[in-house]
Amino acid sequence: MKITRLVDGAIRSVLRPGARSAAAKQRGPGLLPGHAKVVESDGKPVGVYCDAGGRLQAVTAICTHLDWKLEFDVESRAWACPRHGARFATDGAVLAGPATDPLAVVQLSDQLRKRLQPDPPELPTNH
Ligand code: FES
Repeated sequence: MKITRLVDGAIRSVLRPGARSAAAKQRGPGLLPGHAKVVESDGKPVGVYCDAGGRLQAVTAICTHLDWKLEFDVESRAWACPRHGARFATDGAVLAGPATDPLAVVQLSDQLRKRLQPDPPELPTNH
């Protein structure tokens, strides 16, 4: 019966949380909500953050103080400069100096957006 198959598929998905659809495997692992990574876009480092709703925010990942590469601090959910300690919000706003200029917002290419978008919830297959 169809309903039994749906329930059976859903149970299998829950029991095998690591199982991903073929489309998701081809796309690669997306960012998890609350996490970020630095990727290359047009030869420049771009910091991409995934918010709790699965929306991506992209900013230049170079400190506006003295051009140092930024790192993401998962605990405070902010971009941090290891050189002199400047901090930036995920939308690029300055949280702490010595930097005074915000990070520029970056428009992600469709290809990067697809690669980094969090995986949608797996729907049970109807085998
Ligand atoms: S280079 Fe980033 S705070 Fe100075």
